[in-house]
Amino acid sequence: MQTALGPSTASRVVANRQVRTARAPQVVAASSRFADVAQAPPDPILGVSEAFRASTSPNKLNLGVGAYRDEDLKPVVLSVVKKAETKIVGRAENKEYLPIEGLDAFRKATVDLLLGAGHPAIQEGRVAVVQSLSGTGSLRVGSAFIARFMKGATVYLSNPTWGNHRNIFGDENVEWKYYRYFDADTVGLDFKGMMEDLTAAPAGSVVLLHGCAHNPTGVDPTAEQWGAIADLCKERNLLPFFDVAYQGFATGDLDKDAFAPRLFVERGLEIVVAQSYSKNLGLYGERVGALVMVLNDKEAATRCLSQLKRLARALYSNPPTWGAKIAAEVVNDKELFDEWKGEMRGMAGRIERVRGELKTALDAKYPDKDWSFITRQIGMFSFTGLTPAQASGGRRVDNMTNKHAVYMTRDGRISLAGLNSAKVDYLANAIVDSVRNA
Ligand SMILES: Cc1ncc(COP(=O)(O)O)c(C=O)c1O
Repeated sequence: MQTALGPSTASRVVANRQVRTARAPQVVAASSRFADVAQAPPDPILGVSEAFRASTSPNKLNLGVGAYRDEDLKPVVLSVVKKAETKIVGRAENKEYLPIEGLDAFRKATVDLLLGAGHPAIQEGRVAVVQSLSGTGSLRVGSAFIARFMKGATVYLSNPTWGNHRNIFGDENVEWKYYRYFDADTVGLDFKGMMEDLTAAPAGSVVLLHGCAHNPTGVDPTAEQWGAIADLCKERNLLPFFDVAYQGFATGDLDKDAFAPRLFVERGLEIVVAQSYSKNLGLYGERVGALVMVLNDKEAATRCLSQLKRLARALYSNPPTWGAKIAAEVVNDKELFDEWKGEMRGMAGRIERVRGELKTALDAKYPDKDWSFITRQIGMFSFTGLTPAQASGGRRVDNMTNKHAVYMTRDGRISLAGLNSAKVDYLANAIVDSVRNA
């Protein structure tokens, strides 16, 4: 067959063979120079979605990936996003490159969200901000900055943490270690262990903190504990690096969810922040976020921004336009901003409701066990305490997936955003069966 692009693949292969035969009579074995490249393991989170898609079970439930679903378990495009997109299309703007540091209106909106509009650090020009590729890309720029300007510093990650943190720092050859965070006995925060480990961290280390709605545990420090962590960072000269992936999504309130980074700044600490609009604005695939450095000195902020730009230039040159325009449009327009807050409360509220329903169902089915941790945890996830290999030797996560077609990560985390009222009973039965029998 002849196509518009020229001869068919088959005839091209024949032609190439003839050329090769004519020039080099010796036949070279068909083999790749990359034949020895090992297969990478599937991503522990996105791999769950792949397995879910392959499942033929009529009951299958995907509680693996942290993406919001409505009550019909369908992906959602927020109404404010649609309105913002209509406005942007109406302006018929060009597709020119953005500056390396990103869209100005977006950068302003993002820092306003983080610190509160009119914050002294903004007015004094002490904030360096680069728009980047959502939370992950922003963390990666931060990691590259640490590798270049904090040589030898160790990054302390909570144990457990979002699985990609290890890759993000490891791939930049930044050493990372864990600090204690989760107490399996109380299904709460191991605050004492956390403080001991951070006290023992060498001065000049970096501490990765989840701004709110800790992933995967859903366990956050209290306001008082945040204060103590800030004081410790100051005393031990540790650099707090906040991962803010859920602002507004945890409690439905943007200001409440920014409590921790704002407190640190109020106490005079310099902070680095990776912000994401994936969850709170539902812009997952648009890759919208920023890396922000709130510093104590304007000149240092200017120089750091120049270096962040230098790093971004080599990594991806400049960030994408579309999602940044949407976020800027929503945050900078009073009407859309107010509507967004309502939609955020709606998402956070739905998750809170199914949390309550799940706890009620588990209490009814297995009253001897304390399920109160489910409603104590906040954000998108619940850390169920189901693990692949319990002390008893059971394999509870395998049981959840293999027997009940409930797809979840192997650390026992479930995304409540993937649950609706109709499926609560089914999930509760699967959990009880796995706890009792696996
Ligand atoms: C804790 C945490 N940080 C960062 C991210 C990054 O998300 P994205 O790159 O989509 O903004 C996620 C996403 O699940 C997350 O849970």
